[in-house]
Amino acid sequence: MSTTTFDVVVIGAGPGGYVAAIRAAQLGMTVACIDDWQNASGGAAPGGTCTNVGCIPSKALLQSSEYYEHAARHFDAHGIGLKDLRIDVAKMVARKDQIVKQTNEGILYLFKKNKISFFHGRGSFVKAGNGGYEIAVQGKEAHALFGRQIIIATGSSARALPGLPFDEDKVLSNDGALRIGSVPKRLGVIGSGVIGLEMGSVWRRVGAEVKVLEALPSFLPAADAQIAKEAHKALTRQGLQIELGVKVGEIKVGRKAVSVAYTDAKGAAQTLEVDKLIVSIGRVPNTAGLNGAAVGLAIDERGFIVVDNECRTGLPGVWAVGDVVRGPMLAHKAEEEGVAVAERIAGQHGHVDFNLVPFVVYTSPEIAWVGKSEQALQEEGRAYRAGSFPFMANGRARALGDTTGMVKFLADAVSDEILGVHIVGPLASELIAEAAVAMAFHASAEDIARICHAHPSLSEAMKEAALAVDKRTLNF
Ligand code: FAD
Ligand code: NAI
Repeated sequence: MSTTTFDVVVIGAGPGGYVAAIRAAQLGMTVACIDDWQNASGGAAPGGTCTNVGCIPSKALLQSSEYYEHAARHFDAHGIGLKDLRIDVAKMVARKDQIVKQTNEGILYLFKKNKISFFHGRGSFVKAGNGGYEIAVQGKEAHALFGRQIIIATGSSARALPGLPFDEDKVLSNDGALRIGSVPKRLGVIGSGVIGLEMGSVWRRVGAEVKVLEALPSFLPAADAQIAKEAHKALTRQGLQIELGVKVGEIKVGRKAVSVAYTDAKGAAQTLEVDKLIVSIGRVPNTAGLNGAAVGLAIDERGFIVVDNECRTGLPGVWAVGDVVRGPMLAHKAEEEGVAVAERIAGQHGHVDFNLVPFVVYTSPEIAWVGKSEQALQEEGRAYRAGSFPFMANGRARALGDTTGMVKFLADAVSDEILGVHIVGPLASELIAEAAVAMAFHASAEDIARICHAHPSLSEAMKEAALAVDKRTLNF
């Protein structure tokens, strides 16, 4: 078999890998990208977890289920009456599958447009030498590649509970949770992290009775505590049952149901009987198929590829980005690292500011933040001023009929520089972008307060929260 040489070989075509490949090609390098994801008919499905079983399909189902919930619960207040409202789960899931397929095809088109050679199969290291690395591709066809530089972007997979493998029928990972065929009567979720809340919301909205069991005593500890409290209240009010501080014990998978034994926060023994169980307790990095040992790739005790701040592994010319390395497991973080690595390979100064990575939970209300939380600033001993503004006092939110939540600004007590912005409320995912831009330019709260925001718009809540830092809101 002849070997094809590339300036850069990218292993993995999730948001980290395919974006790195595009950026490297834009910078004039010859690029190969290898990905092993298969669609239902065994074809290539680039886009990784994000496209196939993550960001995109989950948001498609969140949208469908939110429309359903609006129709079922909220249209009446607008004077809209509906008879015989029903949900066709098969159609909802098929729509989601179509969006995934479009996205896969879009990425294949981008590869072509940027003259990137795409290889469908599993990429693994063969050996190092001659100023680069030999990479084998095992798929329907085998290929031998040589890369002067290698970018590993192999992503992550769902973590299973010990002794409870995913069967994707009763015990579901994110994959199975996105393709349940009909609304389960009783759905259990282990872990009230991002997946548990998003997927729990989807199935609750369309009629499942959902109970979430969380080991930690506090809800969404990574979020600002005040925002997390507000979100917890709103989600609970909607009927999502969240039990904190539990210790999950034996789980029995029967023919019809799953039984979860657990100890509640008071120490009492409990049992949860459900028709399906989603296990969303975090994810593990994918390194097993890489044969990293052949070249001495260092992996840490948690299975992540060891990298420095700039995504360099210990091996010359080998980089790693995205979920397979330290840091938040987010698609946009993976993309930023991929772009920065391609630019570094080209001799430029790629840069990722990890303090400015926004976090979003796409529940309703949405939860979004960027920068430091109040508790983090307190721990640091940093002097800050806080200002918040409730959506209840925002005209657009009232017109939308969605007034839950608030915007909260945290700014340095002396310089007034914005240190963190936290939102729980409608379209928080979009509003947070203003905060990220402001913080990237080291804006002060006063800068935002002095900028004209369209009326009526949700963005006025951003301006008002910035005004609140100086205790001078206009509408509250
Ligand atoms: P991945 O997307 O996991 O892609 C890695 C690719 O490499 C995969 O296709 C994999 O099959 C392939 N691969 C692995 N090993 C090999 C090999 N040896 N050879 C060839 N190919 C290989 N993040 C957000 O920012 N926003 C969201 O809304 C969001 N929602 C999510 C919802 C769910 C349900 C889940 C599970 C995740 C969500 N995430 C979200 C997280 C996001 O999906 C990940 O952070 C992101 O996909 C990581 O990108 P990546 O490129 O590092 O890896
Ligand atoms: P997560 O890390 O967000 O949450 C896991 C939760 O499970 C934690 O609260 C943890 O305390 C709990 N847990 C762990 N072990 C447990 C046990 N034995 N019993 C009970 N609870 C237990 O992980 P999740 O939800 O699986 O998502 C994985 C990653 O995917 C996230 O870290 C996130 O980065 C990414 N993601 C991002 C989304 C977004 O940006 N909107 C959406 C979905 C996922």
